[in-house]
Amino acid sequence: METRLRRLLDAVVVMNDLDLDAVLHALLQAATELVGARYGALGVLSADGRGLDRFVHTGMAPEVAALVGHLPEGRGVLGRLIDDPRPLRIDDLTRDAAAVGLPPGHPPMRSFLGVPVVVRGQVFGNLYLTEKDPGLDGGRFTAEDSEVAQALAAVAGTAVANASLHADAQRLAVLEDRDRIAHDLHDHVIQRLFAAGLSLQALTTRLQGPDAEEQRSRVAGVVSQLDEVVRDVRTTIFGLHVMTGGHDGLRRRLLDVVEEMAGRATTAVRTAGAVDVLVTGALATDVLAVVREASSNAVRHGRATHLVVTVDATASDPASGGPAVAVQVDDDGSGVDTGAARSGLAGLSERARLRGGALEVRRRSEGGTRLLWTAPLEEPSP
Ligand SMILES: Nc1ncnc2c1ncn2[C@@H]1O[C@H](COP(=O)(O)OP(=O)(O)OP(=O)(O)O)[C@@H](O)[C@H]1O
Ligand SMILES: [Mg+2]
Repeated sequence: METRLRRLLDAVVVMNDLDLDAVLHALLQAATELVGARYGALGVLSADGRGLDRFVHTGMAPEVAALVGHLPEGRGVLGRLIDDPRPLRIDDLTRDAAAVGLPPGHPPMRSFLGVPVVVRGQVFGNLYLTEKDPGLDGGRFTAEDSEVAQALAAVAGTAVANASLHADAQRLAVLEDRDRIAHDLHDHVIQRLFAAGLSLQALTTRLQGPDAEEQRSRVAGVVSQLDEVVRDVRTTIFGLHVMTGGHDGLRRRLLDVVEEMAGRATTAVRTAGAVDVLVTGALATDVLAVVREASSNAVRHGRATHLVVTVDATASDPASGGPAVAVQVDDDGSGVDTGAARSGLAGLSERARLRGGALEVRRRSEGGTRLLWTAPLEEPSP
């Protein structure tokens, strides 16, 4: 018995969800043997705690169980255990007030021992043992039996908790996987398709000869097919995000904004720190507005061909020294005329001012423009 129990306990630690019923069954069998009960059953409560979700039993021949028909519904004595999860010992079920009676075909059961399956104060289910061996303890369950049953119920509770943790972890892994695939699609596949389309387009200008026109229209056809593929991939990415909860973090939205605004310019988006977690809500809206305006200016006014966007959530606020987000957009365009009348940039200044942050726009010594916008991080809401 000892070694069997030990093996059982080991099984609880390494088991996966598929094993749960088997482990519960083995625990139940150990419990019935240890206390000398003829029948045993273990019910796992449904999420709302009102009925039984999982039910394993032992001692009843399959044909008898089939005769009984349905699983216990958690009424009667079992219902009492669900409402009041404390060990319950009854010498004669047929005389107990709470008994609703056994269904037709059910073997007679007199003595009853039920204990709750509890993990960290939460009731997961119940373990019931019935029909104590008449040759033992006068056919009545004892306080020691109750102790044994409670110990095994605790192991069963751990098994159930383990299994649900395991299932949660698996679900999370699937979500993370989808998110990673979406990232890869966005960062690599779309960029490549884009680049392929562009170089094909460039090729058409170099086509010469009598059938140049025909070849040009063929290439144009391929380019538009590529555009369609890009649209399909975007739809797929969107689907993957919907599956992962539909919530778009700042990083993802940054990539979208830059791609939308940059036109033909080559872009790089870099983030530092947990931008998705630290930069949310209205602050995220401001950051995106900054990146949108800066990218649009770089392309429209500076005719830049390269853009580097950096969002750093680990920056410190120049004024207070407190945690801040810094947005920097560098371009290789013509360079800003700092004396020019401001419109979009004035809006970014205002967004910074309202947050106690700052905006700086200047020519880079190596050519082009650098825009730097900083704002303190928002206090996390309680
Ligand atoms: N990255 C840049 N490269 C070159 N010039 C720039 C750049 N950013 C801004 N400028 C110059 O600064 C001026 C002011 O920019 P701002 O964004 O405030 O206004 P705008 O872009 O002209 O108008 P709006 O933003 O309302 O479309 C621009 O007209 C342009 O001359
Ligand atoms: Mg502008």
